[in-house]
Amino acid sequence: MSNHPAEAYTALQKVLHWAVVALLLAQYLVFEEEMGDAFDATLQTGQPVFNLTSTAHIAIGVLVLVLALVRLGLRAKVGAPEAPADEPLPLRLLAQAVHIGLYAVLILLPLGGLAAYFIPSEIFGEVHEVGTNVLLALAGLHVAGALVHQFWWKDGLIRRMI
Ligand code: HEM
Ligand code: HEM
Repeated sequence: MSNHPAEAYTALQKVLHWAVVALLLAQYLVFEEEMGDAFDATLQTGQPVFNLTSTAHIAIGVLVLVLALVRLGLRAKVGAPEAPADEPLPLRLLAQAVHIGLYAVLILLPLGGLAAYFIPSEIFGEVHEVGTNVLLALAGLHVAGALVHQFWWKDGLIRRMI
């Protein structure tokens, strides 16, 4: 990701990183089953169904979208630290690609969900489901990278985000 290099992530960048992780955990762990039920009812009636589950899932999803845009704005303004100099180039490029992918999915996934719910459309529902799996795959790669830094290279990179 093109950097405007900074010494470190700011406190706000760190808080937003972990807040988004917590919001995503809620989306996967709390709402998965019941959101499918609310969506089935939406498809049957042709009207978005608002209950506690669907309203919370939509609100959290829209918040994730807004926070992704805020983070990108902050990144453009205050920058981000450069990748560690001794990180092998292919892995550095992979990490950058994963960051770009994560930001893209954090924006596109809520938009696809909104389209599915408010149009309402089965196809967009399926796109949303695929998107949730793409996000899981990217987050898995990202966390694996963080673990390699922590336990293999033991370079303390994780402290950048704490
Ligand atoms: C970061 C944002 C979001 C995440 C991580 C997320 C995650 C998820 C997950 C894990 C499911 C369950 C998928 C499954 O059945 O396997 C789901 C279902 C669903 N979500 Fe989201 N969601 C997000 C935002 C939104 C938004 C903003 C909406 C707007 C209404 C939305 C609408 C839906 C709908 C309609 C379903 C049911 C889809 C189906 O069963 O085919 N989501 N979401
Ligand atoms: C235990 C889980 C996680 C750990 C330990 C972790 C750790 C980190 C660390 C250390 C960085 C800074 C990397 C660097 O400076 O080169 C970072 C950046 C980032 N993380 Fe995570 N992360 C985790 C989960 C997640 C998840 C689930 C997401 C999904 C949205 C995510 C999205 C990002 C993004 C987009 C960046 C790039 C920030 C930027 O430079 O603008 N992280 N993470």
